[in-house]
Amino acid sequence: MKVTVVGAGAVGASCAEYIAIKNFASEVVLLDIKEGYAEGKAMDLMQTASLNGFDTKITGSTSDYSKTANSDIAVITSGIPRKPGMTREELIGINAGIVKTVSQSLIAHSPNVILIVVSNPMDTMTYLVHKTTNLPKHKIIGMGGALDSARFKYRLAEALEAPISDVDGMVIGGHSDKGMVPLISHATRNSVKASEFLSQEKLDYVVQETKVGGATLTSLLGTSAWYAPGAAVSGLVQAIACDQKKMFPCSTFLEGEYGLNDICIGVPVILGKNGIEKIVAIDLSDAEKAKMQESAEGVTKTNGLLQL
Ligand SMILES: NC(=O)c1ccc[n+]([C@@H]2O[C@H](COP(=O)([O-])OP(=O)(O)OC[C@H]3O[C@@H](n4cnc5c(N)ncnc54)[C@H](O)[C@@H]3O)[C@@H](O)[C@H]2O)c1
Repeated sequence: MKVTVVGAGAVGASCAEYIAIKNFASEVVLLDIKEGYAEGKAMDLMQTASLNGFDTKITGSTSDYSKTANSDIAVITSGIPRKPGMTREELIGINAGIVKTVSQSLIAHSPNVILIVVSNPMDTMTYLVHKTTNLPKHKIIGMGGALDSARFKYRLAEALEAPISDVDGMVIGGHSDKGMVPLISHATRNSVKASEFLSQEKLDYVVQETKVGGATLTSLLGTSAWYAPGAAVSGLVQAIACDQKKMFPCSTFLEGEYGLNDICIGVPVILGKNGIEKIVAIDLSDAEKAKMQESAEGVTKTNGLLQL
């Protein structure tokens, strides 16, 4: 199992580290355009191998895609992150060009690769890959919902004063402050609805804090977060590499599912060795359906800025 991670910055390196620590991949290649940067991060990570007990071989490459040849899975984190006060959508100008060339270079060396898109605005970048490559749609996966759901569970556990292992919840929709749809009506503590423990005011607070989870961290850190994003990507990579058939909300190309067409947006999917093996239809309340529709309109508007 060979995994390439393009972009050896904060999220790319964190993702490579979690993949290695979980010890399921034989090889991880980090690639970056900054001279020597990926090689340096790879060497630093390899020097944690004896300390953390993993056998995954991590190597680095400066823009040499031949080193990524025959990757089973590739993660695209290359591009600029947002600074405090910025929206993810504002990154489109620079990141679209990067994501387009990176995805084409990856596929040229690994025609059977499964791509996981992380660069923002992620739903639009996933759509761009869908429109500008010949990969089948089940091999193009956008990562956003797995992270947003982890942030939702963090806020739910906090409000419930419960351990995180007690709570479950999922966020679908667009990966943006306005577009996220935390499914509060489906959120549970040990299979009991969260609404049985929390007032409407507290539920609203959980939803709101989840939606601005990334922006909260960006203003604290001065740049976009990396531990939870890296861990979320590693979870998707592991589900594919180990054929786990796990369900995650991921951005995928929709053709009528959830009443949406010609868009990549977060919906629950099953991940296994073929990438997206199934899009799962779940019952949404009328309010959730309306929020999903509004979220899709936002993503479609951002997609309109692409020069396809
Ligand atoms: N989808 C999500 O849930 C999620 C979460 C966090 C961050 N992000 C996004 O991920 C991206 C990376 O964030 P980060 O914090 O790691 O940024 P970063 O600046 O730390 O790292 C980005 C790296 O990409 C490299 N790069 C730029 N152009 C390249 C190219 N053409 N080829 C190869 N490498 C190139 C840069 O040299 C840099 O090292 C941003 O767009 C950010 O918004 C997405």
